[in-house]
Amino acid sequence: MTAPDTTTTPAPPPAAGTPPGDVPAWWRQAVVYQVYPRSFADADGDGLGDLAGITRRADYLAALGVDAVWLSPFYPSALADGGYDVADYRDVDPRLGTLDDFDALVEALHARGIRVVVDIVPNHTSDQHAWFREALAAGPGSPARDRYIFRDGSGPDGSEPPTDWESTFGGPAWDRVPDGQWYLHSFAPEQPDLAWDHPEVRADFVRTLRFWSDRGVDGFRIDVAHMLTKDLTEPLPSAAEIEALPRDGNHPLYDRDDVHEVYAEWRAVLDSYDPPRAAVAEAWVDSERVPLYARPESLGQSFNFDLLLAEPDAGEFRRIITDNLALAARSGSSSTWVLSNHDVVRHATRYGIGPAGDGRAPRERAADWLLTGGPESALDRDRGLRLARAATLLVLGLPGSTYLYQGEELGLHEVAGIPDAQRQDPTFFRTGGAQVGRDGCRVPIPWTADGESFGFGDGRAHLPQPAWFAEHAVDAQEADPGSTLALYRRALAARRRLQGAERLTWVETGRDDVLHYVRPGGWHVVANLGDEPYAVAGVGEVVVASAPATAEPGGVVVPPRATVWGAGGEG
Ligand code: BGC
Repeated sequence: MTAPDTTTTPAPPPAAGTPPGDVPAWWRQAVVYQVYPRSFADADGDGLGDLAGITRRADYLAALGVDAVWLSPFYPSALADGGYDVADYRDVDPRLGTLDDFDALVEALHARGIRVVVDIVPNHTSDQHAWFREALAAGPGSPARDRYIFRDGSGPDGSEPPTDWESTFGGPAWDRVPDGQWYLHSFAPEQPDLAWDHPEVRADFVRTLRFWSDRGVDGFRIDVAHMLTKDLTEPLPSAAEIEALPRDGNHPLYDRDDVHEVYAEWRAVLDSYDPPRAAVAEAWVDSERVPLYARPESLGQSFNFDLLLAEPDAGEFRRIITDNLALAARSGSSSTWVLSNHDVVRHATRYGIGPAGDGRAPRERAADWLLTGGPESALDRDRGLRLARAATLLVLGLPGSTYLYQGEELGLHEVAGIPDAQRQDPTFFRTGGAQVGRDGCRVPIPWTADGESFGFGDGRAHLPQPAWFAEHAVDAQEADPGSTLALYRRALAARRRLQGAERLTWVETGRDDVLHYVRPGGWHVVANLGDEPYAVAGVGEVVVASAPATAEPGGVVVPPRATVWGAGGEG
């Protein structure tokens, strides 16, 4: 083993939510498991997952060994965007249960030592929200319209949208209402943007944070946290002008400095609880600006999506890890690591679609693959899953918190070839099918190898499950020590034992496809993303391995496309 180099990450200062007595806040190095409630477990057999379904699976989550569960939206919603179109922020969708069911779920998870994080969607409401209905009924110029972003149209008779801006899901960002005015929707038309300079909007979200905090919620994930505040002073810039403007805190639409006035107020609310409630920003901003969201006086933590966008390449991974640990330290926060979530093609599939290095980003490659029906010939399932397991184990060893997405512990691949008639994602409809969207990672997960919906529920699942789900079912994996589920369980259990100070030291490997770092206490993480085995000296014991690894005299041999956690050296 080469001597450790000097690139040890600095110890971070105390951050938001750090309780007195210097006990690190729970979220700093937590494993947070994302549940997409409509697709996790269906207790009432209507084809949609529900809160009671999650409660029934609380023992599964405990056995998996996660520290927290993040629930994607379960609020009343017309499901124009999978629940991210919220009609009432302080209630449960009747198809998913009741507030009593929510309380029972929190109790069941807390009883097992699992914390609960809920999703807050503040940029937009649903068009079914009472405020938007009121705004439509009240007409142009009414105070009710001021909670949203209404404008007169352009052109001689106002029949053109106020600007040529495009929405994130495709198509114009403005829609016209019957009285002739237009409203802004950065996402689907059913998701009108709120006006964050309106005091009632601000007050209402504080009420929502208190509502869920009072019910025992431990933290919040803030949806598109960088988009709330906007400068819509006339004349409005064109799409081309918007694109060209620097994102320096004064951009009219994104990542404005004044959004942090909102989060400072929220932080005061979250800190008024004991223990302080955590928050993590989903902020797609330049990395230099991430610490603004992760500061203790703001939300306290911010997602880092760099790994999710990267090739499984050792050099790229090391750069991303080093940069993000430094960024997190700058704000006093801890980093987050994410390989999959409900918005992207599952990482086992991204890593299995070749060839890498063909000039396309992994995301584009995956989107093209889906668009062409997901041909099996272009996907090497085994290679993708093997690399995914290696990447997951590499990431789970890092200081900071790791976000897992339901089903990745089963080694699930993206579901391709969903019939158009069964698609749900607005991206598919708004782009006229030019992008298939995100349904393929939102298919209800398989619990049993048999049964109409693979144990998801008694009825047919709301998105079609492919036959190959059977081999990934929980019951099929439970008895197999080599399964992906067994790997996740072993890794999470070992992580709890090994987790210490938030630091790592890189060890030079002499190979550009192998990464090796050591955590305090002598916890070695060696990831071989290449095609040749790698022998590492000074690591005597294999603690967890993503593929069978052999301990030879003098060291451990890490096979190709595998990660090994070892013990036996000093960090
Ligand atoms: C969520 C998406 C959602 C969008 C609009 C995102 O960042 O993760 O699922 O479609 O916000 O709410």
